[in-house]
Amino acid sequence: MNRSIPARILRVNHGGEHGAIRIYRAQIAMAKFRAPDLLPFLRGTLAHEQEHLVRFRALMPQRAAKPCRLMWIWSVGGLLLGGATGLLGRKAILVCTEAVERTVHRHLDEQLAWLGDRDPQMSAVISEIQRQEL
Ligand SMILES: [Fe+2]
Ligand SMILES: [Fe+2]
Repeated sequence: MNRSIPARILRVNHGGEHGAIRIYRAQIAMAKFRAPDLLPFLRGTLAHEQEHLVRFRALMPQRAAKPCRLMWIWSVGGLLLGGATGLLGRKAILVCTEAVERTVHRHLDEQLAWLGDRDPQMSAVISEIQRQEL
């Protein structure tokens, strides 16, 4: 299970998207009170993350990748991070978003560098998602 590097990359990315969805959901709940002007941006981003989750999930069976068994940790982590920053308000939401997205971007860069032309289909999906994260 998840022995190959592509399988491990997919498992982590899938878990990460899951966590991101929880972050944005929690931030949206808090932003309703703390920073309503951010709601359209947060909702748009949430929709992207949901799409990314589906796209990574779709690549998994063919590469013998299974979702992370500790998925609930991604959920709780995302919920806490999103809830706490959402409660703090506008500035904390934006700082959190930027930090998360910057880390994701760097990881995707490393993944693309490793993948090279080993798995063109997976590389294409990661590149597209990376462009959308910008
Ligand atoms: Fe994403
Ligand atoms: Fe993202």
